[in-house]
Amino acid sequence: MSKLSQRHLLGIKDITRQDIELIFETADNFKDVINRPIKKVPSLRDVTIANIFFENSTRTRLSFELAEKRLSADVVNFSASGSSVKKGETLLDTVNNILAMKVDMVVMRHASAGAPHFLSKHIKANIVNAGDGTHEHPTQALLDLFSIREKLGSIEGKKVAIIGDIVHSRVALSNIFALKKLGAEVLVCGPPTLLPKFISSLGVQVELDVQKALAWCDVANVLRIQLERQQLKYFPSLREYTLYYGINKKMLDVLDKDIVLMHPGPINRGVELTSDAADSHHSIILDQVENGVAVRMAVLYLLAGAA
Ligand code: CP
Repeated sequence: MSKLSQRHLLGIKDITRQDIELIFETADNFKDVINRPIKKVPSLRDVTIANIFFENSTRTRLSFELAEKRLSADVVNFSASGSSVKKGETLLDTVNNILAMKVDMVVMRHASAGAPHFLSKHIKANIVNAGDGTHEHPTQALLDLFSIREKLGSIEGKKVAIIGDIVHSRVALSNIFALKKLGAEVLVCGPPTLLPKFISSLGVQVELDVQKALAWCDVANVLRIQLERQQLKYFPSLREYTLYYGINKKMLDVLDKDIVLMHPGPINRGVELTSDAADSHHSIILDQVENGVAVRMAVLYLLAGAA
């Protein structure tokens, strides 16, 4: 079996183009598996995986749990609410106590950027970052690119616009790293207050006009306004944001080509996307969710082989 260059998946920044291609080839096989009547393989029998979530999640958490179960791993789930974190236990003590129960791999989501990187210096288990603050969300980027590759045949040379709240988005940063590694052209679009100052240094174009961004791209990946991460007011009102940056089906229909519409979820319907756009023939949003299971199976399988 070919191996990944890393024993953890902390971010797309740390992995190579070859790693990403290996994950996609492995995910192709697992996608076949999960479409069979018997969706389970014994690949991770006797491997125990802890899903440790310090932040809310629907898609990522369920997708990892399903991926682990389809690979026949033993699975334990931890969420900070209802745990001894509420009594003041530290992150390292929490994880060391979980690992004392003979856990081999940890899938972790945390509100603090760098939390999984910190843990990787202190524990032996393989770690998968399921989203750390506004930093990275590597498996989301992998499933996003896998979905583009499935829809358009390849990533190389494709024009991808990432539209919305870029400054608070770990999905944006991981997507930019992954798209650039695989040879796509990337443009970011949003109000200037929601674009990080360093963004051009990542080799992406910047566009403030959303209709021009849509006219430029083959794929529009629309991001959620992350009100829970906004201590300051970045724009006057949600109504004004929707007026200037919200995407509806009419805006897609006037283009002289068919573009692919993506969103990592959860969608703020009526804010960054109207329902007629989110549910249109342009949208591959539910394909992204479906592909998340196969891609996460591939990541877990390859990391277990690298242990
Ligand atoms: N895309 C994503 O990370 O969704 P959840 O927050 O529901 O996991």
